[in-house]
Amino acid sequence: MATTPPLQLPVPGERTSRTIRRYHAENGPVFPIELPGKVNAWMVTSYDMVSEVLTDDGTLYSTNPRNFTALNDGTIPADWPMRQLIEGDHPLTKDGADHRRLRGLINRAFTSGRVRALAPRIKEMTDELLDRLPAEGGVVDLVRHFTEPLPVNVICELFGVPEAERRPLRERSSVILSHTATPEEAAAAGAGILDQLGAFIQRKRDEPGDDLTTGLIRAQEDDGDRLSDSEMLRILWLVLIAGHESSVHLIANAVIALCTHPEQLALARRDDAWDQVVEESLRARNSVISVMFRYPLADVRLGRVTIPAGAPIVVGMPATGMDPARFGGDAGRFDISRGQETHLGFGRGPHFCLGAPLARLEARIALGSLFGRFPELRLAAGEDEIVYNSSLITEGPVALPVVLGPAGTGG
Ligand code: HEM
Repeated sequence: MATTPPLQLPVPGERTSRTIRRYHAENGPVFPIELPGKVNAWMVTSYDMVSEVLTDDGTLYSTNPRNFTALNDGTIPADWPMRQLIEGDHPLTKDGADHRRLRGLINRAFTSGRVRALAPRIKEMTDELLDRLPAEGGVVDLVRHFTEPLPVNVICELFGVPEAERRPLRERSSVILSHTATPEEAAAAGAGILDQLGAFIQRKRDEPGDDLTTGLIRAQEDDGDRLSDSEMLRILWLVLIAGHESSVHLIANAVIALCTHPEQLALARRDDAWDQVVEESLRARNSVISVMFRYPLADVRLGRVTIPAGAPIVVGMPATGMDPARFGGDAGRFDISRGQETHLGFGRGPHFCLGAPLARLEARIALGSLFGRFPELRLAAGEDEIVYNSSLITEGPVALPVVLGPAGTGG
């Protein structure tokens, strides 16, 4: 066991992605941390170690919170805000056969053909938002008017969530993911979203539509194994939250990267290389900064450290894309023309992001259309003046002031 005192996460005033990279540089790839609420955990940060932990099939590193000792033995209080995020029956809290069963069910509704067929509709929704931007005047908040509504609308339309219910879903998700929420706020957001989705599922049972919630309900009914209503509710909870939050921030992070690297923007426009912009953003500016948690089922040796069974491991993402052995000596540079070494932006192993094809598709359409429409778009604030959200899981700006410039002919 290491004797170093745990490192605080988050550090006030420092972006958490930067803190994780700094801790990695100062302490190596595995170290003890202290989370809000004085909860002790471990963090792994290198490409190889993160890959090793995520690739496990649940036999050594579980995702099931019943294997988190301090959560279940009374050490961590019942109102610890992060419980809202890590408890509940869904694919991210299941291992092995239990996980395959739930994931298989979502896959039956969420087919790749269905995602591919969405491209024209995503383009249409993107164009509708872009059409409205100039009316916002000189300086436009791109988060409020573009990078947030687009992924929220896409995932909600896909699952048939009506427009009036989208804003509360977005707001409650942000609270659940925030590390500054009080226990009361977290509990209210957690209960609010479950009530909202419970009522929504009931309505969909009564009035089926041509949407994925109806598809899931059908898959649930056809399933010989009978999914419980609570599993159904939590699956929807997971796909609706995971299905917008990371995309909202990834698109905004990519806009910032392009505006601060005009030569990369010029390259992307010249070669129509939006796919490469998306991959480079996932590597170097990812919105998912940590994966919570993995729980060792036995004492595990990682590097020079032994992590005891039942201790939570936070999988830190930001340093994985900076590994010079994988990405070269200039790994810190945002460069859309670098080679194709696989990044870990969507995770790895059995829990690899189920929404990766959708996330890639919508980010590519959003960025290509935005810069096609407004080729001279620029930030209206210094890079260091941009304010980021307060979450340990995802990272992106809460507002992104930009000047659009004249509309171009593309996009
Ligand atoms: C830029 C956007 C996105 C990023 C960076 C991202 C990243 C990730 C990562 C790193 C994981 C692995 C978590 C773990 O191992 O514990 C994951 C899982 C997941 N993601 Fe995404 N995601 C994105 C968008 C989406 C979208 C659009 C959906 C839509 C449904 C989605 C649904 C999921 C689900 C359901 C899981 C859990 C899979 C499982 O446990 O088997 N994600 N995502």
